[in-house]
Amino acid sequence: MTTRKPFGPEGWTPAQLGSLAGKTFVITGANAGAGFQATRILLSKGASVVMMNRNADKSAAAIAALKQEFGGDAGVSDVHMDLAVLDSVRKAAAELLEKVPRIDALICNAAIAQVAKQEITVDGFESQLGVNHFGHFLLTGLLFERIEESRGRIVVVGSNAYKMGLKRIQFDDLNFDKRYTAWNSYAQSKLAQMIFAYELQRRIRAAGKNVQVHVCHPGASRTNLLKDTASCFNKVVWAILSRIIAQSAGKGAWPEVMCATQDGLQPESLYGPTKRAQTVGPVDECPLDPVALDRESAARLWTVSEQKTELTWTL
Ligand SMILES: NC(=O)c1ccc[n+]([C@@H]2O[C@H](COP(=O)([O-])OP(=O)(O)OC[C@H]3O[C@@H](n4cnc5c(N)ncnc54)[C@H](OP(=O)(O)O)[C@@H]3O)[C@@H](O)[C@H]2O)c1
Repeated sequence: MTTRKPFGPEGWTPAQLGSLAGKTFVITGANAGAGFQATRILLSKGASVVMMNRNADKSAAAIAALKQEFGGDAGVSDVHMDLAVLDSVRKAAAELLEKVPRIDALICNAAIAQVAKQEITVDGFESQLGVNHFGHFLLTGLLFERIEESRGRIVVVGSNAYKMGLKRIQFDDLNFDKRYTAWNSYAQSKLAQMIFAYELQRRIRAAGKNVQVHVCHPGASRTNLLKDTASCFNKVVWAILSRIIAQSAGKGAWPEVMCATQDGLQPESLYGPTKRAQTVGPVDECPLDPVALDRESAARLWTVSEQKTELTWTL
């Protein structure tokens, strides 16, 4: 499969960003990892950023660190939101809509990964599918009108895991009640996020609405992603492997910042690091496995997502 390389041999870097003064970005899970680093980049260009975080103490610490770096007037604030609890997402979306008159981009960055044993959220979802997909589906739906009024964007942070695992949405056993594995359930959740994003692109185009949706991945980045959730074995393996194969969390943030700001990005594309099986290297367009563009799964997932989140999203 051929991919375009519009950003040349060095790929996209934050050096290509102009001033973002007057723009408002909303990022989920921004107290750490790629989300925190993306916030730093956006603030450094004068943007306002609202972080939607689940842990009040970590969120306060992140804001304090950012104000220390960028000054007390830096436009960073937070809204409490736990993506694992749909009521929390509804409350957070309402609070956000009160707080910000415009949303230039919503970056769906938060995730949990490789959860060692099956966990079920209060709403009855396998935890990774609940947090990574259903929580973000509901949030995006609730903020969509404001994003549209702002002629804004939606950025979905996927993962190379989408083309691993079972490579399908297991509609007859979404929660993996029969045979749970940490890897397959994480892979399903990231595939679901990406299938949703490309379906949203198509629906927006068909409805003639002015919202861009872009999909990216951070490659392999040294973050806390496996710290709380993975098995001891996977944590040890990743701790060793990440020193050898992974890039910094800072570089892992570049694709999501690019997708939130850069002009000329294409639909049905995936952006991220392009070297060593798309784990590191210059940020540009990556090959996209057709599994993410499967329209039958997309239509079914949309219906299931509306039912499970009790959101009617007419698009
Ligand atoms: N790192 C990699 O190599 C890699 C590879 C492929 C894809 N990704 C993707 O990159 C994105 C960023 O992950 P990261 O690597 O930066 O991991 P990270 O350092 O663990 O950051 C994840 C963020 O999500 C938040 N979060 C988790 N559960 C949440 C919930 N229920 N509600 C709200 N926020 C929640 C975390 O909050 P707490 O601090 O409270 O836990 C944290 O702020 C994710 O979408 C991930 O799937 C990462």
